[in-house]
Amino acid sequence: LQNGLARTPPMGLLMIEGSELALVPFKWNSWNFFACNINETVIKETADALISTGLANLGYTYVNIDDCWSKVTRDAKGQMVPDPKTFKSGIKALADYVHSKGLKLGIYSDAGKFTCQVRPGSIFHEKEDAMSFASWDVDYLKYDNCFNLGIEPKKRYPPMRDALNATGRSIFYSICEWGVDDPALWAGKVGNSWRTTEDINDTWVSMTNIADLNDKWAAYAGPGGWNDPDMLEVGNGGMTYKEYRSHFSIWALIKAPLLIGCDIRNMTAETKEILSNQEVIAVNQDPLGVQGRKVHSNGTDGCQQVWAGPLSGNSLSVVLWNRCMQAATITAEWNVIGLEAGTSVSVRDLWQHEVVLNNAVASFSAQLDAHDCRMYVFTPQAALMGNVM
Ligand code: DGJ
Repeated sequence: LQNGLARTPPMGLLMIEGSELALVPFKWNSWNFFACNINETVIKETADALISTGLANLGYTYVNIDDCWSKVTRDAKGQMVPDPKTFKSGIKALADYVHSKGLKLGIYSDAGKFTCQVRPGSIFHEKEDAMSFASWDVDYLKYDNCFNLGIEPKKRYPPMRDALNATGRSIFYSICEWGVDDPALWAGKVGNSWRTTEDINDTWVSMTNIADLNDKWAAYAGPGGWNDPDMLEVGNGGMTYKEYRSHFSIWALIKAPLLIGCDIRNMTAETKEILSNQEVIAVNQDPLGVQGRKVHSNGTDGCQQVWAGPLSGNSLSVVLWNRCMQAATITAEWNVIGLEAGTSVSVRDLWQHEVVLNNAVASFSAQLDAHDCRMYVFTPQAALMGNVM
């Protein structure tokens, strides 16, 4: 959706202003960890934690409330009302608090009669609900797909786009129809991101399946509209450090919205290290905005994989990903990652934070433990010289 937002993928808990908003969003979202156990204190403390941990400075600027913020019924005037038990100060006061920290506030509704947790949905109430969100100074809307009356998504999602546009406020529009109606094919004109799959859960199997399903739609992502393979599970405990590092590396390379989904008030040092890797984040936020892809796989069930994509300045981002049950050596051949034969590149390892080889030619290999990955930026020497001149 070309509404000036989402120039790079959004980052939960990321600060993006004005026209730069259409990068991939960076965010924090309440659902993966808290589900319905949310209240205004959790949201405020999360905003505070984004600042105190330094995550906000890295670009995670949206604080997004998911399902369960509203009362189960509308008021006498037909307006949505925040749950008086958990959000008693109201959403406007919360937005003011979040904005006072330099952050943005996201809210949630549903393109159906009810949300998945049976709070009021917005179908046939798009105008008044968009007006409510805008009057509360909300910056982002995630729009879910439950209780959808059997009406196809292509009909249910545009009315909220139009209603949000009509408010005059810039509101990032996140389409969450779970990939049921191939949204990549139509949602580029409707929203700033669209979920391509069912919900992620905090397991290696779920994360790897989703990466594969989302890959099919790579060609449809770009500034203004992004494939959304769902939020990050990093830090929730169901995967190992190496698996979470793979999760974050791949989500960055495929230009997924980087939506933190753990309790950042209580992160381990390892979780913080993963989510704070500036070099990996820079790949996600690269202004070229081209989604990286799986370009090669071999071994049992194709478990030895190379994922790659172009970056601005003629560089490439490359992930060598060992999805096998045992250690493996994985090789990126130049023809597979789109480099001309004979090109000499410098190879920078984004987790070791150093150039590991100055003049790789024809291919590059690494030995990887089971479920581990390496992430690199490959810079052709010609491009390096170009930068110097
Ligand atoms: C389904 C969505 O896909 C999830 O991300 C979450 O928003 C839940 N609904 C909330 O009920």
